[in-house]
Amino acid sequence: MKIIGLIAAMLLSVWADEGKMLFEKHCLSCHTPFVPMLELKENFADHNNTLLKLKAPTLNQLSYRLKQRIGDPKGDKEIHRMEVIAFMSSYVMNPDRDKSLCLDEVMRAFDTMPSLKGKVSEEELEEIGTYLYDFDEEIVKQKSVKFEGFEKALQRAKKEDKIIMIEAMSRTCHFCRKMEREVMIDTEVIRAIERDFIPVSIDISTHALPLGLKAELTPSFIFIDKYGNVLGNIPGAWGKQDFLALLKEAKEAAKSKKAKK
Ligand code: HEC
Repeated sequence: MKIIGLIAAMLLSVWADEGKMLFEKHCLSCHTPFVPMLELKENFADHNNTLLKLKAPTLNQLSYRLKQRIGDPKGDKEIHRMEVIAFMSSYVMNPDRDKSLCLDEVMRAFDTMPSLKGKVSEEELEEIGTYLYDFDEEIVKQKSVKFEGFEKALQRAKKEDKIIMIEAMSRTCHFCRKMEREVMIDTEVIRAIERDFIPVSIDISTHALPLGLKAELTPSFIFIDKYGNVLGNIPGAWGKQDFLALLKEAKEAAKSKKAKK
């Protein structure tokens, strides 16, 4: 059984590499793979693409947007994947602005994509589509804050004199996802977290919080010092600046607790 699993995993990774290679061959000349969401927002909403001068929507934009707008994003994943790939394939052959799904503020920066009829086959588009479908989640996972398990975090907090930050989230929570994609991936935020915190992420729809803690909303951010004292339990999704301020407050709270000891 293990061997079959291994072979399946290998095939899957070859498959993904194939999609990536084909994307690079046929699409990369115009579609940049990844630009962080906040930079994209600034570029398109405030500067009409004069900051980044992109030639087309980025792959992470396409991946996110197509999956959000086509079919039922919360329904069966394989059906959804097929629907997204079908849309993408037909768009590439017959680009049509009336059908496009990106925001107007993005699209106004671009001329219509040239059709790739005769340049790329249906089979190739199938593989590019698979790559596109998984891209956004993969890249967010790769680039975002690295979370620990709670027990390990507690040991590390003691050893490294840091604060534990628990993100109470759930799989289906839209604002959790939004924060993961926009804030937890920002270099300044990652740096601030790595310097003073040990991040733990807990899906409260399937797991209990430690220390008998409760979270009313997702996401909530719970800060705990190395002695196990709760410094704050703050519900809500935050923008970058507000979240950085929140981290700073947690640090101050830990300091004043320490001073009282
Ligand atoms: C010559 C440049 C160029 C190439 C090559 C290219 N694209 Fe595009 N593509 C664009 C531009 C510009 C847009 C935005 C304007 C539009 O939708 O026509 C776009 C839009 C799209 C959209 C629609 C976005 C929406 O909002 O619905 C999809 C899907 C897409 N491209 C997929 C691909 C794929 C897949 C490939 C490779 C097989 C590819 N493109 C190759 C320039 C390109």
